[in-house]
Amino acid sequence: MPYDFTTPVDRTGTCSLKWMVEPGELPVWVADMDFETAPAISEALQKRVSHHIFGYTRPNPAWYAAYQHWWADRYGWRIEKETMLFATGIMPALHSAVRRFTQPGEKVVIMTPVYHCFFESVEENGRVVSECPLVFDGSHYSLDMRVLEEKLRDPLASAMILCNPHNPTGQIWTKDELAEIGRLAKAYGVTVLCDEIHCDLVDPGFVYTPFASVDDTCAEVSVIFISPSKTFNVPGLHTSAVVIADPQKRGRMARALHADQIGSPGALTVEATIAAYEEGEDWVEELRRVLLANKNRVADFCEENIPGIRVTKMPATYLVWINCSELTDDTAALVKHLRKTEGLIISAGGDFRGNGAPFLRFNAATQPCRIEDALKRLKRGVESWRRGVRA
Ligand SMILES: Cc1ncc(COP(=O)(O)O)c(C=O)c1O
Repeated sequence: MPYDFTTPVDRTGTCSLKWMVEPGELPVWVADMDFETAPAISEALQKRVSHHIFGYTRPNPAWYAAYQHWWADRYGWRIEKETMLFATGIMPALHSAVRRFTQPGEKVVIMTPVYHCFFESVEENGRVVSECPLVFDGSHYSLDMRVLEEKLRDPLASAMILCNPHNPTGQIWTKDELAEIGRLAKAYGVTVLCDEIHCDLVDPGFVYTPFASVDDTCAEVSVIFISPSKTFNVPGLHTSAVVIADPQKRGRMARALHADQIGSPGALTVEATIAAYEEGEDWVEELRRVLLANKNRVADFCEENIPGIRVTKMPATYLVWINCSELTDDTAALVKHLRKTEGLIISAGGDFRGNGAPFLRFNAATQPCRIEDALKRLKRGVESWRRGVRA
């Protein structure tokens, strides 16, 4: 069935975080797609809404089964029903987990550059970020296991946040890398808080490995966060699952979710999740092809038309990581310039810490005409920046 990933959808007036912009501005920052969700989800929601009663809600057996089917069929990971907990989104659950699995003042190891909200989950809860910087060789990122071991060996390190696959660098961790992370975490008594929200959105031909599926050690040391929100563009429904094999950790997390009052679904989320995972596969497969074409278009355009900036081509996420190190060692001012002069709202790499400062992050999950518009604005903005204009 063909789906429409081409016709622009007007999102103004829908309280969209991304689209609350000044007239003429074009946002390509937050990881929120400009595509309508899978038709099966909209239909399930419409059916649910037509009931007209929106009472307190609990996950039903079909909610558990939907997650189980998706991960078993696509990734060969068998999730036991009793290991699953509902949470109203990955970030609320991650904040809760940081509070429950670490003590104030302790360190949480994070590979950087990474999704900036991870830092908030640590620092706003009175813990300390311990950065394990990824190594960038000019075109690829890699993880230095010796540095990671050094960070995990620190007696103050009690947890690690792993982004699998990794936002914003677009890396898919290999099974061997994940196994080594699990082994080190167990050796040093560190809990791995593993965020797999971007797992489905990898380029066609690539597949991610669920951390807990690697071996018993990875399962034992981990708390896994999964959700349909990125894959199906439903982050505003606030829904996710936390999967924890170890019964003690699971009991603690269940108490944490309850104490923080984030363990019960809103009235619309259960049906949406079931429709996504039971009926959304064709839509996701087409989406993955569209996203790859969009990412390639951004990379090709930059290479052909914007001297001094280069795309780091990586297989995961729809976020394009653009190396601007020939222009600047920190894109914060360039980002302001692009918004002021061209109305282009794009993320500064420094937000993601580590060696991210010379990068821009471009969200390519939008219609081709908007991609073209954004690229023209980027080109013009970089040209005026090069001429010394500063907004
Ligand atoms: C790695 C990562 N984790 C979590 C989130 C947000 O998750 P949620 O909306 O379920 O809190 C995002 C959103 O961009 C993300 O990139």
